[in-house]
Amino acid sequence: MVKLGVLGGDGIGPEVTAAALLVLDAVEARFGFRTERRSFDWSGAQYLRDGRRFDAAALTAIRGLDAVLLGAIGHPDTPRGMIEEDIVFGFRRGLDLYVNLRPLVLYDERLCPLKGKTERDIQIQVVRENTEDVYGRAGARTGQGSADERVSVEMSFTRRGIERIVRYAYERARERPRKHLTLVDKANAIPIQGLWREILGEVGAGYPDVEREAMYVDAACMWLVQHPERFDVIVTTNLFGDIITDLGAAICGGLGTGASGNIHPGQVSMFEPIHGSAPKYAGQWAASPVGAIGALALLLEHVGLPDARAAVDLALVTAFRSGAIDGVAARPGRTLEDARAVAELATNGGAAEGKER
Ligand code: IPM
Ligand code: MG
Repeated sequence: MVKLGVLGGDGIGPEVTAAALLVLDAVEARFGFRTERRSFDWSGAQYLRDGRRFDAAALTAIRGLDAVLLGAIGHPDTPRGMIEEDIVFGFRRGLDLYVNLRPLVLYDERLCPLKGKTERDIQIQVVRENTEDVYGRAGARTGQGSADERVSVEMSFTRRGIERIVRYAYERARERPRKHLTLVDKANAIPIQGLWREILGEVGAGYPDVEREAMYVDAACMWLVQHPERFDVIVTTNLFGDIITDLGAAICGGLGTGASGNIHPGQVSMFEPIHGSAPKYAGQWAASPVGAIGALALLLEHVGLPDARAAVDLALVTAFRSGAIDGVAARPGRTLEDARAVAELATNGGAAEGKER
C-alpha cells in the first residue's frame, strides 16, 4: 500500500491533480498496486478562509506518508511570497528534499519552438539543488527610506549540500546512455561558486565512466536554445535551477509540459508540475494536465514502481505523437479530456514503438 498525500492547492491545482489521479487509477488497475490517498486543503484560498498557516506541525502529518502529489499553490489575494514560503519551502526545507529533479523532455517535435529540433535533441535531466543558496531567505533591510537604504541576503552553500546533490547527479548520469554531466554555475562572477567546481572534480573521481564539464549559467542559456542536444544531465544551484528550468520547459513546448520532483531519496518526497496556479483559468478545466501527470510519473518511480512510471511516460509520449493530445495551451475541457486519453493509453500499454525517453 502506497501512502499518498494529495494537496490540490489553488487555482487550476485541484483540477490538474484530479486529472493525474485518473491516470493513477489506470496504472493501479494495470499493475495491481494500491494507494491510500489522504487529501490536504493547504492553499492560499484556505489561508484566506481560516487563517491557518502550513507550519512544522502541519508537516507532522506528511512525514508518515510515502509521497505527496501537489497541484499548484498561489493566490492573488495573499501577501506576495507568503504561501510559497510556507508550503513550497516548508516542504523543501522542512523535509530536507534536497533534490529538485526536473526532466526536460520534448514529447513531440511539434511542441518545440526551436527550428529543426526533434525529440532526440531534448532529453535532459536537470538536478537542481533545493535547500541552499539565496533562495527563500529573509535577508536584511536597513536605512529604510534613506539614500543609504540597503537590502542584502547571503548566498551560501555547504560542502555537505553540494556533495550530496553532485553525487545524486552523477548517479543519474551514470544510468543514462550518454553518461554526461554538466555543472551550471557562475564561478567567474561569484567566486564562492568555485567550490561547486572543486566538488564536481572530487566526487567525479568516483565516476570515471561519467564525462563531466562545467559551464557558466549565461552560456548554458544560450546552448539550451541553440544546441540543447549538448546536454544530458545538468546539476546546478537552487536559483539557477529555477531559471533554467523555465527556459527548459519553454523549449519543450511551454511551462505546461514540465514536472518536478522534490526528493530526499528513501524518504517522503513531494511531486508537482512546474507551472503555477493560473487563477484566470480556474473553474474551466482548461489547463493541460501534462505537468501534473509527469509529476505523478516521477512519484511512481520514487515509491518503487518503475514499471508504472514507464507506462505513464510512454502513454504521455504516445498521446502526443498519435495526436490524442494536440498541445498544452489552455482550452476549456482540456484537463480531463487529455487525462482520459493518457489514462487509456496507460491502461493498454501504449501502442507506440518505445522511443527512448
Ligand atoms: C519553482 C517555483 C518556485 C521556486 C516558487 C513558487 C517559489 O518557481 O518551483 O520553480 O522558485 O522554486
Ligand atoms: Mg520556478
